[in-house]
Amino acid sequence: TYLGIDLGTSGLRALLIDDKGAAIGSAESHYSVSHPRSGWSEQDPAAWITALEAAVATLKAAHPEFSRLQGIGVAGHMHGATLLDTSGAVIRPCILWNDTRSHAEAALLDAAPRVRALSGNIVFPGFTAPKLEWVRTHEPENHARVARVLLPAAYLNFYLTGRFVADLSDSAGTSWLDVGARRWSEELLEAGHMRLDQMPDLVEGCEAAGTLRPDLAARWGVGSGVVVAGGAGDNAAAACGIGALSEGQGFVSLGTSGVLLAARDGYRPAPETALHTFCHAVPGRWYQMGVMLSATDSLNWLARITGRKPAELTERLDGPLLPPGRVRFLPYLSGERTPHNDAEIRGSLTGLGADTTVEDLTRAVLEGVAFGLRDSAEALRATGARLDRLFVIGGGAASRYWVELIATVLGTALVLPRAGEFGAALGAARLGLTAATGALPETVMTPPETAIEIAPDTALAGAFDTAYGKFRAAYPAIRETQ
Ligand code: XUL
Repeated sequence: TYLGIDLGTSGLRALLIDDKGAAIGSAESHYSVSHPRSGWSEQDPAAWITALEAAVATLKAAHPEFSRLQGIGVAGHMHGATLLDTSGAVIRPCILWNDTRSHAEAALLDAAPRVRALSGNIVFPGFTAPKLEWVRTHEPENHARVARVLLPAAYLNFYLTGRFVADLSDSAGTSWLDVGARRWSEELLEAGHMRLDQMPDLVEGCEAAGTLRPDLAARWGVGSGVVVAGGAGDNAAAACGIGALSEGQGFVSLGTSGVLLAARDGYRPAPETALHTFCHAVPGRWYQMGVMLSATDSLNWLARITGRKPAELTERLDGPLLPPGRVRFLPYLSGERTPHNDAEIRGSLTGLGADTTVEDLTRAVLEGVAFGLRDSAEALRATGARLDRLFVIGGGAASRYWVELIATVLGTALVLPRAGEFGAALGAARLGLTAATGALPETVMTPPETAIEIAPDTALAGAFDTAYGKFRAAYPAIRETQ
């Protein structure tokens, strides 16, 4: 059997699969994020270990198959900086992906020569390099003690194997990696005042990073030689879980944030569009994604202020797709990454009338999020990515109306997978299986069964194109007023 670990922002999920890749069982354990100051977001890595041990104990107790464990893969929330001293002890809490304290350091690094060219990306405030620049300025005593910097998934790799090994997909989000050449860049490290000896060794996500420490193996009641894979950042792992490895394959994720991800056979960076271009968790492949910061978060906000549940709001729209409404919503409640890279912008509602109802506002919010995803789709298509047919995953996919709307706005058929496993934990388990068995990634990371395919409503496509044009025009105008 194989174990996939999804180290998420709010909790850890562990999934056990069999030799054929089918789910046997899963366990979850939660922890919190601390916000010591506005814009700060931290986590104590010890909480990840506690959660991992609790999830393993649950799986071990429930499934005798656990004792036949052969491989493990870890997926983690990306970009976090876990700082270790020479003894391997954690120096300070991990600064997470959604922490914006280092926006000034990010802007400086982003403007430095060749940084975008080598890393393939804008240096976003959430990325790892600016966090270390912040620590250098504000906590010099901590910075001086940094012997290693590990991403959250690599920290779990260290706990599991005793070795400092990271995978390329996660490392691509540090702004220290030459993403095209798939290796640490001395030039980028120097720009960020870091050294190569502070970085973990690199492997592909589906290659072995090491084997499970003998003391852990004994305590978990598993054999010796359990292989731990390189693992992946959570988005690359989700792509492995849904079988998105090659050109033309991808997904829309409607979670708190919204992601439009396309697997790429080659390296086609386009930093100026605020797309993310990262190594995939399998050799010779990359993926690109647009990230919008408030997807279901926008609907949750409307639900909160109207005193309803998100599902109550969307249920009222169940029925045929309506043409674009007059009310327009810009979904920038927490700023935006793609396409604006603008941490300061906030959302807006325009076109309100004396007759505007809660349903009109709901439509506007769903449409605003769909148009935000279209921004990412346009940026992806401009790099040559094909988006003919995409899986749709995440909590927002429960609204049929929203899925049909997004299909129409993107001009892309959207596919809902049949109930079952297809997330980052499955992707991580598949990486563990691939690393342990040497199987070809393409044979392991296959797409799930389709439950339903939703085609764009061609009769309304023109009206939504026009409305999208107006949405595009609204950002610079609203920017002026804020
Ligand atoms: C990706 C990103 C998020 C985190 C969340 O760039 O910041 O998707 O990985 O887990």
